[in-house]
Amino acid sequence: MNQRDLSASQALNLEHYWMPFTDNRRFKAKPKMVVAAKDMHFTTAEGRQVLDGLATLWCVNAGHARPRIVEAIRKQAGELDFAASFSLGHPLAFRLAERIAALAPKGMGHVFYTNSGSEAIDTALKIAIAWHRLRGEGTRTRFVGRERSYHGVNIAGMSIGGVTANRKAYSGALLPGVDHLRHTHGLSQNYFSKGQPEHGVELADELEERIIARHDASNIAAVIVDPVSASGGVLVPPKGYLERLREICTRHGILLVFDEVITGWGRLGAPFAAQRFGIEPDLITFAKGITSGAVPLGGVIAKDSIYETFTKQGAGIEFFHGYTYSGHPLACAAGIATLDTYEEEKLFARGKAMEGYFQEGVHSLKGLPNVTDCRNLGMIGAVELASRPGAYGARAYDAFEKCWDKGVFVRPVGDSLAFCPPLIAEKKHLDQMFGTVAEVLKTLP
Ligand SMILES: Cc1ncc(COP(=O)(O)O)c(C=O)c1O
Repeated sequence: MNQRDLSASQALNLEHYWMPFTDNRRFKAKPKMVVAAKDMHFTTAEGRQVLDGLATLWCVNAGHARPRIVEAIRKQAGELDFAASFSLGHPLAFRLAERIAALAPKGMGHVFYTNSGSEAIDTALKIAIAWHRLRGEGTRTRFVGRERSYHGVNIAGMSIGGVTANRKAYSGALLPGVDHLRHTHGLSQNYFSKGQPEHGVELADELEERIIARHDASNIAAVIVDPVSASGGVLVPPKGYLERLREICTRHGILLVFDEVITGWGRLGAPFAAQRFGIEPDLITFAKGITSGAVPLGGVIAKDSIYETFTKQGAGIEFFHGYTYSGHPLACAAGIATLDTYEEEKLFARGKAMEGYFQEGVHSLKGLPNVTDCRNLGMIGAVELASRPGAYGARAYDAFEKCWDKGVFVRPVGDSLAFCPPLIAEKKHLDQMFGTVAEVLKTLP
């Protein structure tokens, strides 16, 4: 479809852009186009204001177009637009790493930059394999992921990820040597849990009883988990589950990687989920909220002891890995300004303080037609809907479109609707979001 009028003043050719993770034909038949964003709202091409109930794609934790961040990017573009980081440095990359290390769990003081969460996952897996090899345990090359977890779209991330729709077309090309733990969702005693579910800690035991027993720990490099699996449908870990994974990994010399691409940067009321749960992973991957979405940036935070294993080797490059844009000046400037914004406005604490109100909002949807579950932790939640026969996902997608038409953006994930508002959200925004969703669900077939 060419030359579609989006507004009186605009005509766009929609044909040539192959949109990611999108039903291109459906979108192009009825585009949802945004032309501006500020704080909690998008402005659409038609001039409507739409509330951003998902921090756009779980990223915009500080809200849109925040002055400090905008100014930092502008200034940096005119000062040092680009400097590569292969044997060349610029101060911002070091300054940001120091700031990230100060927020990370104790003893995790080294940051490797990527441009995205998917690249962060690749990087973490490479660090894990290389680290074991440097210590004389080169047989540790296997990975353990989880069903329904999402770790991005690169081959490594898809291999350890467990979203069937993402994996099925590439099945034969995925990494060998990957096992998956069961996901933790669906125990009937856990439906409508507020916060962490009570049941299911024993699901962690299959790491030892099934996977380590089958392969032997001497072949396993790392276990990778997203502490709250967001893109898998907002799956909150049962009480004690992550702690038990940590114990088992420690007992068997296996690295534990927390993929905090979504749970990082205040989403759970602390800098990282690691602190919320009081667990020390060995590696943390991050992206998204580090720049509040304003410039692509991701990375891996490593335990000091892991970094030191690399750097105590003889002279020469210690880790043959890196991206042209690792530590891009614009991204680092945006990252520092974002961390300044989080700090000045105490946004992590603000998210924590709002958690109770948010939780009540999520659970206010219980009892509406087709609602089979409500769940939440921190400022992330979901309502699950019964699937229409033979049309998994259709009901949530329709709900998403109707909410959009009524001025609220929330995301369908399978047959769940996910909520993840910017941490600047006020009660009135949450009221509007849950009120609109309720209104839509009441009439949705
Ligand atoms: C937990 C997790 N890991 C990795 C990724 C991939 O990040 P990106 O899309 O920046 O590659 C995502 C994206 O949503 C994610 O949620």
